[in-house]
Amino acid sequence: MVSVQGFAQNFEEKVDSLMNLMTLQEKIGQTVMYGGSYDQTGPIVGADNGKFIREGNMGAMLNAMSVKGTRDLQKVALEETRLGIPLLFGYDVIHGHRTIFPINLGLAASWDLKMVEESSRIAAEEASAEGIHWTFAPMVDISREPRWGRISEGAGEDVYLGSQIAKAYVKGFQGNDLSQPNTILACAKHYVAYGAAQAGRDYHTTNMSEGELRNVYLPPFKATVDAGVETFMSAFNELNGVPTSGNKFTLRDILRKEWKFEGFVVSDYTSINEMILHGFAKDSIDATRIGMNAGVDMDMMGEVYRKHLKTLVEEGRVSEQYINEACKRILLAKYKLGLFDDPYSYIDEQRENTTKYKPEFLAKAREIAAASSVLLQNKNHALPLFNELKSIAFIGPLVKDESEIIGNWAAKGDREGKAVSVFEGVSEYLKPNQILYAKGCEILKDDESGFNEAVSVSKKADEIVLVMGEGHHMSGEAASRSNLKIPGIQPKLIKKIREANPNKKIILVLMNGRPINLSDEVNLVDAILEVWFPGTMGGAATADLLFGKVNPSGKLTVTFPRNVGQVPIYYNMKNTGRPIPENNSNEDYKSNYIDVPNSPLFVFGHGLSYTNFEYSALKLSTNQLTFSDSITASVDITNTGNMDGHEIAQLYLHDKVGSVTRPIKELKGFQKIFLKKGESKTLTFTISVEDLKFYNNEMKYAVEPGEFEIAITPSSNFKFKHGFQLK
Ligand code: GLC
Repeated sequence: MVSVQGFAQNFEEKVDSLMNLMTLQEKIGQTVMYGGSYDQTGPIVGADNGKFIREGNMGAMLNAMSVKGTRDLQKVALEETRLGIPLLFGYDVIHGHRTIFPINLGLAASWDLKMVEESSRIAAEEASAEGIHWTFAPMVDISREPRWGRISEGAGEDVYLGSQIAKAYVKGFQGNDLSQPNTILACAKHYVAYGAAQAGRDYHTTNMSEGELRNVYLPPFKATVDAGVETFMSAFNELNGVPTSGNKFTLRDILRKEWKFEGFVVSDYTSINEMILHGFAKDSIDATRIGMNAGVDMDMMGEVYRKHLKTLVEEGRVSEQYINEACKRILLAKYKLGLFDDPYSYIDEQRENTTKYKPEFLAKAREIAAASSVLLQNKNHALPLFNELKSIAFIGPLVKDESEIIGNWAAKGDREGKAVSVFEGVSEYLKPNQILYAKGCEILKDDESGFNEAVSVSKKADEIVLVMGEGHHMSGEAASRSNLKIPGIQPKLIKKIREANPNKKIILVLMNGRPINLSDEVNLVDAILEVWFPGTMGGAATADLLFGKVNPSGKLTVTFPRNVGQVPIYYNMKNTGRPIPENNSNEDYKSNYIDVPNSPLFVFGHGLSYTNFEYSALKLSTNQLTFSDSITASVDITNTGNMDGHEIAQLYLHDKVGSVTRPIKELKGFQKIFLKKGESKTLTFTISVEDLKFYNNEMKYAVEPGEFEIAITPSSNFKFKHGFQLK
């Protein structure tokens, strides 16, 4: 948050003097957001935008954009209302606006905070050039639920990494000076614990202890407050019986009193109304009362604040102070954006026509898409491909795709030809006569009529590249799946291709919005390259990786289970009282399944490279830490292979005994480094008591003395060998 202290005398005074002129209904009008028809992201509730704007009954709009569109609407607000208060235009700019970057779960796999900031900076440049002031991002929901479609929108399962990435998004969107017309308000969503939806079913119930809430789901939101986020969005889900859009504990006690958040909270799309269906509000008047009293400042699309707040204040059931606070926060945000100085500052035809798809934006998108991809498996050195090969068969429904590739929540990303398909990408590396192609099947349709052609094409080629996965609509909002397999008959085609080519190298390029159960495919193909939905330049980036122009460096930020029965499964679970012995001996009465190992297929932090990195033994500056000092841990990392590359070294700690049980390991640091072949570097991490704090059995954020284990490793799959004492 840009502290208003610095501007207090003008911003706050200006807002106060403006509010002294406003009627109660006009203040309520600022708490109302309706949608433009430009893009529907939820059930359309009847709204006559022009009428409500003229009445002073609308403070913000979502899904309205373009210089012309926002200028027309802004003109109505400025010239046809009593006080001429400018409108705020918001939109879901989630992983790019026109130039689309990998979905957020993919971008997270780059572990590259600079890239996260760069991608959201570019998104802000493009969105603001089209009149948008505010994005409903970053989505910072921790999730360990691959059935949940919205796992695609977040940074994965880890609190520390998710918190660092959340900060980078806020910095990218908001920049250093919100009064600049190329910056946009960020919005931390969905507050809170939405990613813990029971059974991975979207909008479903979430239940957890306060300790779990504070140790896992709240920290990334607190990180956005520390980074100065200007807005929050409350969520759809109930938390421990209380809907999060009517939850005083999370919205007032934690967000306002504990964190001192000064920005405004917008509801999710009709989430205030939905408290009726939750069985938490009797009717829309009751929902209105609950929402405002709990601390939701703006009603997105619900129409209830516009209709009922005035009566509730007059009846003394909602305090006018709450209306004043909400209105003030919203007006302050508009002042910070400079909208009162120049309400048309985001409206510049020339900028709109020259900003989108700048070559440097597309180049950055290509670089980031490559860095976000994860080489999951590479048997027999199947990758990289060599373009001297006589022919390569590209098979699958996503080889020539230019639409799915930009994923879900792709804002104004173009799905008709702007995105670079894999086919187009590899055509930069191969001559036409080297490329064989067959679609083979659709993503979901149960039609095997393309199988024979695909098999015969595969048999003619030296090597085979399958490009398969999910459709973009199979993840994202309201897109939960009950199974995690590659959808449709694609797995069947993979099997047929392998049967027809028992000794040929087969590479699977995977496009998907969630962890996929690859238990069958790992035994059928040689290499698996996870590219997620890689965005506008996805096909070019994929080709750069396939042919080794770029060395894969991404690492998973979510666990890939062996099957859906293991879910929830994540790297830092608890040990239990009956863990499987370290030697994995088959003892009875241990916490395990009888039909599958406890281990996942691919662990958090996993990702291969075309080169190899060797880690030396960890060195500690001391093994006695006191409350007042810190220790340093270092390792030497050497690139022992024959290709330059990036490596993401991860620091894990384990608090062996606590007043509540502690995870078996926790990521507490990472460094991404570049090493030329043969090069070595020493990495050093500093650990202080701050890194050891957690919410303990008295719900105090504290550190407890005792023994800790420490490791610096390439992934979360390791056994601790070193430790230190905190006395
Ligand atoms: C949707 C989503 C939210 C989005 C909002 C506006 O339902 O839950 O993430 O920002 O509505 O489109």
